[in-house]
Amino acid sequence: MTGQSRHNLAKGIYITNQLQEAKADDAFDFVALSQKKSSATELQKMVANENFFILPKGISPKEQSKRIDRILGYRIGRIEQKHLQSYCAYYRPAADERKKHFEGTQTWIGLHPQVLQTPYSEIWHFLNILRPYNPKTIVDFGAAYGRIGIVMKGIFPQAEFIAYEIMETRAAEARRMWEHLQLDRCVMIQQNILEDEFAIPPADVYFMYDFSSPLDVRVILKKLLAKLKSDRFFLVARGSGIRSLIQLKFPQFWSVHGVIHHNDWSIYSSFCDLY
Ligand SMILES: C[S@@+](CC[C@H](N)C(=O)[O-])C[C@H]1O[C@@H](n2cnc3c(N)ncnc32)[C@H](O)[C@@H]1O
Repeated sequence: MTGQSRHNLAKGIYITNQLQEAKADDAFDFVALSQKKSSATELQKMVANENFFILPKGISPKEQSKRIDRILGYRIGRIEQKHLQSYCAYYRPAADERKKHFEGTQTWIGLHPQVLQTPYSEIWHFLNILRPYNPKTIVDFGAAYGRIGIVMKGIFPQAEFIAYEIMETRAAEARRMWEHLQLDRCVMIQQNILEDEFAIPPADVYFMYDFSSPLDVRVILKKLLAKLKSDRFFLVARGSGIRSLIQLKFPQFWSVHGVIHHNDWSIYSSFCDLY
């Protein structure tokens, strides 16, 4: 954790983006790159360089992510627009017989694509904090288009990424992109993680960004809680829903080893002190 700007808060450490901005590499001309079509080989080289994901000065994390999506050739906008033809947006009451909400869980249809997913630079930031622990397996509960697997290539090239996603359309696009980038250590599993039979695989890092309602998020937190004493892992939680839940209802995640807070995400550990 050396080099991070940090301040002690009541129940953990608060870190800022300073280091991340200082290290950004000027070698990538994102505007120029987003206006041309790069070959698969060029793209594979870009994502293998972790500097590609570090936030340059003068641009927001979401804008940077939008450019990276365009450079990589993701078809997220098109796919999300199509969802709106079949399903009712999450923020509207179900309109008629034709358009219903996606059933059984919250899939955030209608949310802006750059809000639906964690910005690349944020992913780089928390992976960089976890670098000294050299994780071998990272799991994302509700992975959408699988961004974490892409950022992992430059920072933990040997690690495996296991992504669970309920929507096959999103899962298929993640697989297409990973194949194009030759990310053969990424596995996308189309799965409803709320099913009773869903068993959490062993991993060094679990990631969750408010994949559904607090009641649903609680189901996965309870399963992780059952592993807290026996397994060694980090939990990275993004979003106000899951962070409030952990703060108020799951103190076991931070009461022994502390917590690292960033503006948008927090890191908890089952085995090592974080403060
Ligand atoms: C807020 S997005 C986060 C995406 C990704 N983890 C990220 O941070 O970039 C949550 C994703 O979880 C998926 N999801 C929601 N409920 C789910 C469930 N019960 N099982 C699996 N995936 C689910 C949604 O379809 C959505 O793609």
